Order: sequence, then C-alpha cells, then structure tokens
Amino acid sequence: MSLQDAMKKMGESVSSLVKNGYVVGLGSGSAVAAFVNALGERMKKEGLKVTAIPTSMQIELIAESLGFVLERYHRINDIDIVVDGADQIDSMFNMIKGGGGAHHREKVFIEASKKRVIVADESKYLKYLNRNVPVEVSIFARHFVWKRLEAIGGKPKVRTLEKGYPYFTENGNIILDTEFGEIKDPPKLESQLQKIPGVVANGVFTMKINVFFKAKNNGTVEKIER
Ligand code: A5P
Repeated sequence: MSLQDAMKKMGESVSSLVKNGYVVGLGSGSAVAAFVNALGERMKKEGLKVTAIPTSMQIELIAESLGFVLERYHRINDIDIVVDGADQIDSMFNMIKGGGGAHHREKVFIEASKKRVIVADESKYLKYLNRNVPVEVSIFARHFVWKRLEAIGGKPKVRTLEKGYPYFTENGNIILDTEFGEIKDPPKLESQLQKIPGVVANGVFTMKINVFFKAKNNGTVEKIER
C-alpha cells in the first residue's frame, strides 16, 4: 500500500460525507482532485446529484471533465461542505495555503461553508508552520506592501513562472511569497498581514475546520475531528 492508495482512499472517504442535493465548494490542488474524482464516481454509480462551485480553473477543468454541474459565486452562501487541501498544517491545526495561488477564493469558501474539510498527506503536518506565506497583492500597491512586510519581519519574493515572468492569480494580482521563519503565532501573523492595505488575501488560515484527513505513506488514512 502506498501514499497514492491512501490519497485515493481519502478522496473516497470524504466523498461519502456528501449528500444528495448538496452544494459543494471545491478547493484546489491534487488532494482535492482525488476527492473530485471519487465524487464523480458516486455521481455515476449512485446517481448522486450535487452542485459544485470551484475555487480555481485547475479544479474547474477536472470537475467539468467529470460532468459536474458547476455554479458561480452567487451560490457561495449556500455551500454545505467545502473540501480543500493545505500546504502545511501545524500542531494547533493552523494552515498555510496558496501554493497554487488560489487562497483568496479558498479563504472565502471555507468561511462561507457550513462544514469544512481539509485533505492532505502526512508530509504536510508538522509542529510549526515554516513555509513562505503566499501574500496576494494588488499590483499598484506592491512597493508599499513590500515595505510593510519587511517591517513585520518578512522577506518577500515575487512569485514567478519558470522563465521569470511574474505569476498572476485568477484575480489579476501578484503573489509575494514571504519568509517569516517558524511561525509561532499564526493568528497574530494572519491579522497583521490582513491589515496591510493592498493585501488581497494572505495564506495563513486559522479559522475552525471541522475535519482533517491525513493520507499516510503506509496507505492508511487518519480522520481527525475537531
Ligand atoms: C491552492 O492555492 C492551495 O491552497 C492548495 O489547496 C494547496 O496548495 C494544496 O495543494 P496540494 O493538495 O496539491 O498539495
């Protein structure tokens, strides 16, 4: 049994939480893709009917190819369950997200949803968050935000594509991936970042999550309810 088996199993377990008629918020990333595939199977085999709202083109393309009925953002307040991935999860269940640049929409979806589920492999779970924090920034404010990030101890770097061109989010903004070392107080950092004018969204997520799923290298899946 491998991590790949566990990821598939995790997708299936999460898909069993979805009931007929649910409005499902789809986060982004590979773990969410495994869930979307499993949900697609249930739709085919059991005739399950759901309405899905994607957070990014990445997950939209996958859902579309599986025949999902997709809705737009006017249904955001009706989301029954959101399933999302994470880049890091600390021992207090705070997270860093935004590796794929979708964290602005993901943050709104998670806050809007009645039930919140996170799916991630075991390498994402650690004591303290220490990855660069993705900070989505309106282009015109970038010099100002850069200085403010440095003032609170951050080392920002513009996210670029392979050939050095800047990466633009689906909202038309850039991302400053900002190093803060080990993050001992994620709620404080999240609110410091959010208070900087020009910051659209930051990748520190400290809201309450109902269930975490952990896919392990030995092929098993752990469910952590909170
Ligand atoms: C997208 O911007 C992210 O927040 C993803 O949810 C995160 O990067 C997890 O992706 P993987 O499941 O592909 O690791």
